[in-house]
Amino acid sequence: SAPLRVALLGCGTVGSAVLRLLTDQAADITARVGCPVQVAGVAVRRPDRHPEVPADLLTTDAHALVTSPDVDLVVEVIGGIEPARELMLAAFAAGKGVVSANKALLADDGVALHAAAAEAGVDLYYEAAVAGAIPLLRPLRESLAGDQLTRVVGIVNGTTNYILSRMAETGAGFAEALAEATELGYAEADPTADVDGFDAAAKAAILASLAFHSPVVAGDVYREGISAVSSTDVARAAEIGCTVKLLAICEKVTGEHGDAIAVRVHPAMIPTTHPLASVGGAFNAVFVEAEAAGQLMFYGQGAGGEPTASAVLGDLVAVARNRVAGVAGPGTTAYAGLPVAPMADT
Ligand code: HSE
Repeated sequence: SAPLRVALLGCGTVGSAVLRLLTDQAADITARVGCPVQVAGVAVRRPDRHPEVPADLLTTDAHALVTSPDVDLVVEVIGGIEPARELMLAAFAAGKGVVSANKALLADDGVALHAAAAEAGVDLYYEAAVAGAIPLLRPLRESLAGDQLTRVVGIVNGTTNYILSRMAETGAGFAEALAEATELGYAEADPTADVDGFDAAAKAAILASLAFHSPVVAGDVYREGISAVSSTDVARAAEIGCTVKLLAICEKVTGEHGDAIAVRVHPAMIPTTHPLASVGGAFNAVFVEAEAAGQLMFYGQGAGGEPTASAVLGDLVAVARNRVAGVAGPGTTAYAGLPVAPMADT
């Protein structure tokens, strides 16, 4: 049948890996979707910086690409709030499903974006926004949809985990370890988003929203980064059989005013015998506790071009299949409306 044509917005570390994998695996993706999935255009700010992209695909006019009648689906890997938000809304208004890796935007404006997608009857998938390659959002949204979640706790930022792991293993200094993480393509464009916990807080907000069916935004999350963690702290922790990790913790708490959600990101000392203590490098790991399922653990590469592109492509195949079937996948389930507990109550 007729090919599905994709607009790729952004061609940085993740976007270029998406383009490469989509091209290399064209035959398999065609077989899995039931029709070819082709790249119709790649929107970038500086076309001269992308010699690897066929010149006839490059454009600086992302809006024209998104709204073009020659585009069926949109992949947004620009990051940041604008213009990503406006482009996503334009895609929905034009009846096009979106795959995004944009945690900052989803954590800020997820409710409105889901509403816009639902109104247009199209998909909004963003598995790559949290914990890179690890299938986590669709398990929360779909596989665990029949259970009651009580707690989600994990390591969701690869850069800070890389830094803390290097400091513990080699006694490397903070700056040196951060430079390595940047070199490996793990860090955000502005690494303070990693170091100060903003990236983890955005991911925690998305996880809490899906786990507890309630809108949680990044600004609701209590946040402490790792900039105050010294090599002495890391060494002292080791002396008492502990390791320092930046944790994201989302839990259902029952206070005097009823159920609420507590969401926080901060460095924590955990015993080296704890499974999270052995999560090294840019790996992420997330524990999910549910009433019937009990404890589940998700583990894998949480950052980097190819691992993140794997999650983007998985979503793209899902959205393309839905489009072929003429359906939209599950949208937001933010019906519960539990309040976010003030830090003092948690
Ligand atoms: N900067 C992020 C991290 C990339 O280090 O985890 C993946 O979201």
